[in-house]
Amino acid sequence: MEEKFSIIKPEAIEDNLFKLIGTDWMLICAGKPDNYNMMTASWGFAGVLWRKPVAVAFIRPQRHTFGFMENNPYYSLSFFGEEHRDILNLCGSVSGRDLNKMDVDDLTPMETPLGNITFEEARLVLECRKIYYDDIKPELFQAFEIEKIYPKKDYHRFYIGEIVNVWKKIA
Ligand SMILES: Cc1cc2nc3c(=O)[nH]c(=O)nc-3n(C[C@H](O)[C@H](O)[C@H](O)COP(=O)(O)O)c2cc1C
Repeated sequence: MEEKFSIIKPEAIEDNLFKLIGTDWMLICAGKPDNYNMMTASWGFAGVLWRKPVAVAFIRPQRHTFGFMENNPYYSLSFFGEEHRDILNLCGSVSGRDLNKMDVDDLTPMETPLGNITFEEARLVLECRKIYYDDIKPELFQAFEIEKIYPKKDYHRFYIGEIVNVWKKIA
């Protein structure tokens, strides 16, 4: 991994985080080299909490990725260039229950020194250590239009991850 990516500080990320997450989208991946799964996400954020750089991911309980997030202490958030939009469309519309996403063409898994999975095609990776989680609780909504996002009452679980490494593709 170190041949293709270098570690940068979170403060050195040049991308606009709103565009990065909300428009470019990301792959959330958790698991081990022989058993991992990933899904596309466009909701989440990154910032500072408890004196740590953190990234927060929101996962509905029916996602196959949910179990992987539950059972692993780390996850990765991988960001891609526009040329890889097809990958994000696929991983955002098909479940790992119906397709072994470890076999997806055009995605080359890569293990970090900590043993987490990201992909050679990524251009930026946030490697995160789970430090907190909670579930969205409808009784706490202060703006009632948000409830419309959950007609199936499948409230997201959110994971706050300490960003332990930011990997940037070496140009
Ligand atoms: C652009 C985009 C953004 C998405 N964002 C999220 C998200 O933030 N949280 C979530 O639970 N699902 C999100 N999804 C849906 C999952 O990616 C989708 O259901 C996926 O097939 C789940 O795969 P899995 O079952 O293998 O985990 C998004 C889908 C797309 C296309």
